[in-house]
Amino acid sequence: MGRLINIHYDSKPLYNINIEQDFSGLPAVFESLRLKNRKLCILTDSTVGSYYLDTVMGIAREYTARAVSYTFEAGEKSKNLDTIEDFYEKLIKEHFDRNDVIAALGGGVTGDMAGFAAATYLRGIRVVQIPSSLVAMVDSSIGGKTGVDFRGYKNMVGSFHQPSAVYINVSMLSTLTDGQYYSGFGEVVKHGLIRDMKYLDYIKDNYSGINSRDLSVLEEIVAGSCNIKRAVVENDPEEKGERAVLNFGHTLGHAIEKLKDFSMLHGECVSIGMAAAAYISMKRGMLSQAEYNGICQVLKDLELPVKADGLKAEDIINISKSDKKMDAGKIKFILLNGMGNAVICNDVTDSEMLEALNTVLA
Ligand code: GLY
Repeated sequence: MGRLINIHYDSKPLYNINIEQDFSGLPAVFESLRLKNRKLCILTDSTVGSYYLDTVMGIAREYTARAVSYTFEAGEKSKNLDTIEDFYEKLIKEHFDRNDVIAALGGGVTGDMAGFAAATYLRGIRVVQIPSSLVAMVDSSIGGKTGVDFRGYKNMVGSFHQPSAVYINVSMLSTLTDGQYYSGFGEVVKHGLIRDMKYLDYIKDNYSGINSRDLSVLEEIVAGSCNIKRAVVENDPEEKGERAVLNFGHTLGHAIEKLKDFSMLHGECVSIGMAAAAYISMKRGMLSQAEYNGICQVLKDLELPVKADGLKAEDIINISKSDKKMDAGKIKFILLNGMGNAVICNDVTDSEMLEALNTVLA
């Protein structure tokens, strides 16, 4: 059956998100993009490529003039300008022109890099996102944020470049490790907490389908998250204002991710960051103690951590201040003013962050 979500900018349809349980709808997406006489280069990593590259290449060969691929070593360590340079070289050697297309087959690292390469190669070509991880399906493949890490600073170099299409096959979630799978629920819970408590109730009512990776439950969850993200990015495509609410849990989460040298997964770090941000919200009287406890419980129920060890609160705060979520020298912090209602605050003090971090540092 599948779901179709259309993303509009300036009230005009811009691209579709197809949510399916297999790849059977992908040929129609390639046809709608008129790829029959165009070349397509699939960017993937060594892990995702080993599972899905042959299948997607098979479809691409049939529905494009020429399909090629470029595979990089899986992991955040590859998310840099060196990999992008090698990828540009591949595109140049294959004579890719402005009408040819890149497809991202993989998780957030692949999607962000494919998007960045597409934004910059020949001043911009089209990119199709085929996300394989839950984080990429519900968050990074949508909304056009692209980029790479630079000298240890996460996503520091990048650009906004909207995809031409997003094709989500939720059955790809079956090949994720448990850690990667549950890590994706960090972003899923975030979407409920910032915008839609009914969505969070659906998550809480479906733990058994989540744990068994039931495809219908996953389709519902992915569609729900994509819709929340759609509503936010349509209003503020380039994060001039409200899109920053999507960074709930990320201010301290990114710093933890960096201090742990990416040994902890993104969603796990965001989970700890959300627990700390919820604590500050509670201390400010914006959440009750029961609501704060409830947030920590949902995260724990989804195998997500609400505590980190081996880190110093002061280091986390210092790193947060060199992150890009700053506004005139102040950290742009996202708090919850009630469940399902995220707000942007520029006045969170170091002592509030210290107190919150001391509750989440084991
Ligand atoms: N991942 C946050 C955003 O797309 O704005």
